[in-house]
Amino acid sequence: MARTYPGAKTLGLDLNPRALSLGNVNAQLAGVKVSFAESNLYAAVPGDMKPYGVDLIMSNPPYIASSTDGEDLPIYADGGAGFGLDLSIRIVEDGMALLSSSGVIVVYTGVAIPTSNPGHDAFLEKLKQVEGAEIAEYTILHPDMWSEEIGKGAYADACRIQVVGAVLRRNDKSIGETKTAARKIWAV
Ligand SMILES: C[S@@+](CC[C@H](N)C(=O)[O-])C[C@H]1O[C@@H](n2cnc3c(N)ncnc32)[C@H](O)[C@@H]1O
Repeated sequence: MARTYPGAKTLGLDLNPRALSLGNVNAQLAGVKVSFAESNLYAAVPGDMKPYGVDLIMSNPPYIASSTDGEDLPIYADGGAGFGLDLSIRIVEDGMALLSSSGVIVVYTGVAIPTSNPGHDAFLEKLKQVEGAEIAEYTILHPDMWSEEIGKGAYADACRIQVVGAVLRRNDKSIGETKTAARKIWAV
């Protein structure tokens, strides 16, 4: 992304310092300028980018569910509650507070499909309710990933994990509100 948008200020955020140092190696090899910061979700986004100063958020969060047997996953691998969806939903909800009027959020994640209701995609349903957002694209990238998890632990009642790519932007009402709010903040 930094190569595609060389004029952009690009930030790489992660909880895990090792992920950040590998990201730094990648950026150097690619010859691009990226700032990296240790951050729980968006905590380290600098003040001058808040609110409404971010044009693109791209995330590939962990999406495997917390275990039910007390042997929790390491924090960097744990997608949290709700079949591991909690983190992906927070990335979208909290990201909306940062997004510019024309900004876009792209999330790649996995969704456990319940055996009792195989037509139900909990992530898609949650995205439809995110305040101020509309879904620009929602693609099933793989219908049945991590099949070895199915039927065990947190996935006892799931029939498959589907991997999806979601693209969100502001809806018309939110675009108007964000432009007005940004004008007041930056006096433009
Ligand atoms: C699937 S890996 C993706 C790694 C890399 N960003 C990529 O796209 O190839 C998920 C990453 O999310 C990070 N992570 C997990 N929880 C996080 C949180 N609350 N805030 C920031 N990063 C988190 C993990 O440390 C891990 O590096």
